[in-house]
Amino acid sequence: MNDKQLVAEYAAGQIQDGMVVGLGTGSTANFFIAALAQRQVSEGLQVQVVASSVVSAIKAQSLGLSLLALENINQLDVYVDGADEVSPDLSLLKGRGADLVREKLLAKASLAFWVLIDPSKRVTRIGQNYPIPLEVMPFAWQLVQKNITKLGGTAQLRATASGDGLAVTSYGSLVLDATFPADVDTQKLNTQLNAIPGIAEHGIFTGLTSAVFCAVNGLVQEQWAENSQNL
Ligand code: A5P
Repeated sequence: MNDKQLVAEYAAGQIQDGMVVGLGTGSTANFFIAALAQRQVSEGLQVQVVASSVVSAIKAQSLGLSLLALENINQLDVYVDGADEVSPDLSLLKGRGADLVREKLLAKASLAFWVLIDPSKRVTRIGQNYPIPLEVMPFAWQLVQKNITKLGGTAQLRATASGDGLAVTSYGSLVLDATFPADVDTQKLNTQLNAIPGIAEHGIFTGLTSAVFCAVNGLVQEQWAENSQNL
């Protein structure tokens, strides 16, 4: 079993009967979805789930999990997802999968947000290993790009994996991948990006993490944010 699967199964083991659970997107989240569905089958665990992406919704449904529409819920008990980077203050970089809007909505709407990682996701600053994804309205990308330049950064439209087109999110937005100088303040940048018109959402998640579960050499370490409570 690899570390992603280990930490996903560990997190699924913490889920309790009756919970409304947010499902993330990505390879770690996929292991979590599978582990949750397995508990439903083997233990009769009763949960309802809300998906952060079309891909996760299809996977959850195909495994027999009871899927709620985001439109029909006010609050989730816990949102469980991976991340691309985790800084020492538990800020995150997310969105390589480009489903940022629903991911941040679910993180904000949940009583707890558990982030599942392996040590490769640890960084000293957000933006260290990856550009910061900006989900932008298609007609706004050039103006957003100019605003990023004014902030001292650069931003390029993301291409598809094959390179023969532009990446488009599940909701028809384009993605600008933005880089900033290494000494940029993450909290300040978060506020600045929030204020740029045309950005539907961006990949900096600050003040949302309740706990990081990190698989290290076959063991899972828990790190809880201040003011968070173990469920
Ligand atoms: C999805 O948009 C991302 O935020 C993922 O949560 C992130 O890329 C982690 O993916 P893996 O679990 O595949 O590493």
